[in-house]
Amino acid sequence: MSILTSISSVEERAPLTRRRLIDKHGRTITDLRVSITDRCNYRCVYCRTGNQGAVYSELSIAEYLRMVRVFVELGIEKVRLTGGEPLLRKGLLELVYELRRLRTPVETASGRPLDLALTTNGHLLAELAQPLRDAGLNRVTVSMDAVVPDTFARITRVPGSFDRVVVGVRAAKQAGFDQIKVNCVLLRGFNDDQIVPFAKFSREEGVIVRFIEFMPLEEDRCWSLDTVLPLEEVKARLEAFRPLVQLPPNAASETAIRYTFDDGVGEIGIIAPVSQAFCGHCSRVRLTSDGKIRTCLFSQSDHDLYGVLQRGGSDAEMAAFIERTIQHKEARHHIGEPAFLKPSRSMVHIGG
Ligand code: GTP
Ligand code: 5AD
Ligand code: SF4
Repeated sequence: MSILTSISSVEERAPLTRRRLIDKHGRTITDLRVSITDRCNYRCVYCRTGNQGAVYSELSIAEYLRMVRVFVELGIEKVRLTGGEPLLRKGLLELVYELRRLRTPVETASGRPLDLALTTNGHLLAELAQPLRDAGLNRVTVSMDAVVPDTFARITRVPGSFDRVVVGVRAAKQAGFDQIKVNCVLLRGFNDDQIVPFAKFSREEGVIVRFIEFMPLEEDRCWSLDTVLPLEEVKARLEAFRPLVQLPPNAASETAIRYTFDDGVGEIGIIAPVSQAFCGHCSRVRLTSDGKIRTCLFSQSDHDLYGVLQRGGSDAEMAAFIERTIQHKEARHHIGEPAFLKPSRSMVHIGG
């Protein structure tokens, strides 16, 4: 066998080098959320005031792509595009198309495609569901905080928003996305009467509905423990409608506790970061629309990856920066504790 043949056969058999991002608490980081704009066309009461004006931060699609590519080489397997509202972003379809071509290094010669998801408020989904699917997006999550128009508009502060979002959810089903998730942040006094109607919505529309405990990440400073509907209370309200049956988790780092009903129709998730924090299994890290790494939703500071890129940093330098940054990942949040400090950014400037 010639030297050349033996080298190429070794290369063919050799797996891609598998790198992993492991933080100092032993958690493997496999999940990257990328905000591609901090603009939004809604003003949800639990999120933003809408007083931001015309000032917003966005990088080019090529810059996001380069940063994500370096993350993926380090072992990221799941990428979720968020915002602000990501469907407002010009170039979104090209970005999805290019992300689809990235391969996460695993123990096969060619690697594996990413799990590619997107979180949207659904306002523009009717038009974009099919093009996003065709570009290669795997999964869509739609934020929807009521199933009646008045309450919906009171939360989004945009009249007429409800009908568009329902049409968007149906368009996503039509486009062939499986496992469409609908996220509902519950706020006492605003939409806590929507729990059972949402259970019916899940059963009728064939979507997974997830109730989320409100976290202190809003611009309006309206959060208090009293506004949070804890998991046990949500469960009790659902049980009064129909008996719940718990489902096994899909992954250790899953944020939602999953349920169906006694007849197996519908799926409900409860995401309980306040009453049952899941930080011990956190696999997530975030990249903001201005290119900063956030190691936790509740971080007090950012890590400027875009700065490395802007100074002409190589991929290897960016990778080293990411590896160092991961070591700063917080063990957990401190919501509800006396020493709790609000994070240095609100949700709309972090990315859901
Ligand atoms: P998939 O498993 O990929 O479907 O994503 P997910 O379950 O993480 O869901 P999604 O991205 O839709 O997040 C749902 C909500 O859970 C977010 O909008 C947040 O409210 C909350 N959440 C997600 N990740 C975190 C996290 O790391 N920490 C905390 N405290 N809350 C989170
Ligand atoms: N608490 C919990 N979840 C929030 N989101 C936004 N703000 C908050 C908050 N304060 C979530 C919503 C939305 C996604 C973008 O982020 O689920 O769907
Ligand atoms: Fe992870 Fe921070 Fe969320 Fe806890 S609060 S799950 S550590 S991002």
